[in-house]
Amino acid sequence: MAIRPILELPNPVLRQRAKKIRRIDSQLMRLAYDMVDTMQHANGVGLAANQVGELKRLIVIQLADEEEVRIYFNPEIVKREGEREVEEGCLSIPGYKAMINRSVWVRFRAMDHSEKVIKFKAEDILSQALEHEVDHLNGILYIDHMEEHQELIPVDKSEEDEESASNDSDADQSDTAGSSVLWTPDDDPRETPASLKIK
Ligand code: NI
Repeated sequence: MAIRPILELPNPVLRQRAKKIRRIDSQLMRLAYDMVDTMQHANGVGLAANQVGELKRLIVIQLADEEEVRIYFNPEIVKREGEREVEEGCLSIPGYKAMINRSVWVRFRAMDHSEKVIKFKAEDILSQALEHEVDHLNGILYIDHMEEHQELIPVDKSEEDEESASNDSDADQSDTAGSSVLWTPDDDPRETPASLKIK
């Protein structure tokens, strides 16, 4: 298992549609476990195969309060209902977050590692993560769901560090605090590197 580089906007692979998986073999399982390592290393809640440069319909999710790692092949949102505003970020758009609209709940279907079909209804953070990751497989990013009044907010790096308790230095507190910008495709988000998780 290995940590793979996470592609960032504007990498074109993030805008492509991933292909349906026909067979789950050891090579694909290796990719899945690499994605789990990569997600955990980046403190993310989820990761889609596009984000490591593989156009395969495979996502991994691990919620903050769960030990279980979820690995889903050919995941689909079968039904979605309602609308709610949530805060969201993406490992491929580091340094930013935004408030966007997501469903209240979704009905979800996928295949597990033994090619067994699994179906369930999800709400809250799991519903949000499933929508976010399935979007990735269709070349859609959370910023595509932003409406005019919803702006990209730079993430204060020091706040993130406090949350992860990995670094309590407040030396870099000044750079982005308090300001907010409207994202445009011409901006280069790489100038503000900070891992960002869906919350
Ligand atoms: Ni993402």
